[in-house]
Amino acid sequence: MKEIVPSPPPIVRNDAAAVQALFQQNVVPSYGRFDIVLTHGSGSYLFDITGKRYLDLGGGIAVSALGHGHPAITEALVEQSRKLIHVSNFYYHEPQGRLAQALVSLIGPGKCFFCNSGVEANEGLFKLARKFGHDEGRFEILTTQNSFHGRTLAGIAATGQEKVKKGFDPMMSGFRQVPYNDLAAMRGTLSPATVAIMIEGIQGEGGVTPATPEYLLGLRQLCDDKKLLLLIDSVQCGHFRSGRFQSFQRILEGVPGGEKFLPDGISMAKSLGGGFPIGTFWVRAPYADILSAGSHGTTYGGSPLACAVALKILDVIQREKLAGNARQVGDYLKTGLQQIAQKYPRVLQTVRGLGLMLAIELVPDIPNLPGDSSKTQTIRLANLLHAAGLLAIPAGAHIMRFLPPLNLRQGEAEEGLKLIESVLAGLAG
Ligand SMILES: Cc1ncc(COP(=O)(O)O)c(C=O)c1O
Repeated sequence: MKEIVPSPPPIVRNDAAAVQALFQQNVVPSYGRFDIVLTHGSGSYLFDITGKRYLDLGGGIAVSALGHGHPAITEALVEQSRKLIHVSNFYYHEPQGRLAQALVSLIGPGKCFFCNSGVEANEGLFKLARKFGHDEGRFEILTTQNSFHGRTLAGIAATGQEKVKKGFDPMMSGFRQVPYNDLAAMRGTLSPATVAIMIEGIQGEGGVTPATPEYLLGLRQLCDDKKLLLLIDSVQCGHFRSGRFQSFQRILEGVPGGEKFLPDGISMAKSLGGGFPIGTFWVRAPYADILSAGSHGTTYGGSPLACAVALKILDVIQREKLAGNARQVGDYLKTGLQQIAQKYPRVLQTVRGLGLMLAIELVPDIPNLPGDSSKTQTIRLANLLHAAGLLAIPAGAHIMRFLPPLNLRQGEAEEGLKLIESVLAGLAG
């Protein structure tokens, strides 16, 4: 591999301050970054420029499905890039066709469109919905409070969080938000212009809240009755993270009528590419040809390279039974977090989530929480966890998420629990 992947330039190896200065001078400051310069990773671990090791329970926000430095991904990248990295979507190529086939067989009869990110997958579904309702003058898409659907203008209009919209008025019209898991509110908000409903199967940025089975089945019925498209944003909660390919499959397990449930569109990204950018949306068969030639496109979408990586990840997930692993190790991690919550009720309020999409909710005001009091509790907790050697992802002021690789080992989960407990015990005082 040496001749193909050259070692990084010296600055990345030995100078945190120099790297941070490069960002300060040259990178738009749209992210609040932690004070860590990462250089490499292996499996569930990341290493910073000083050589410090972190157990990565954040997984790049639910992206690193196979962890870091997985040889199967490297091989897929090398092999496919030797053959063909990119061709325009004017032409056919095998990896895109095979990936679409694999996704359709995991979901149900329909077709896929490929793009490069989660928000772009959602944009495609919004356009699908508008085209679907166009001749009847219907265009409105209802989404939910606390949702997150991405950062484009349509993405922030769809998102149910004011902080994401702030400063970008006027919002794109045609989106309204209603409370999540509230079927009556959804029904009561429909207007003659409504054409679709979009929800996350498990709200991620909003704090890891799964949809209830009644909500999913009720929305399906509502959409059937009112001729609306039911769209599921699966960008964060999909790709086996819940223990099933789609979170709605896990949520509806054993529920009468649940096995037959299918939405009309599903957006996916993140773990699909394991870190290589790729997104897609699946459309159920009756609507799969609405976006006809010339109506939608993107230069890079579904390149041979991206699709080869995504296919390889699916292959590894299947071969190594990682759906079962996400379920088992996820249950182990959740039980451990619940035990910690019982031990430290003055610090932890609740534990929630499914599979390897978990969260802890802190009590609102932890008196002993050190750090800059102008920062949220979760930012301060993240700093303490980093110092202890663990990465996790804040969601709002009081919720910390765990979205680790799907191949996280039980021993690594155990190590994570010990690190988390050591930090929380220090706050319980
Ligand atoms: C549920 C959900 N939808 C959409 C997005 C946007 O995805 P991307 O950042 O790839 O555009 C995210 C990103 O966090 C997400 O969690």
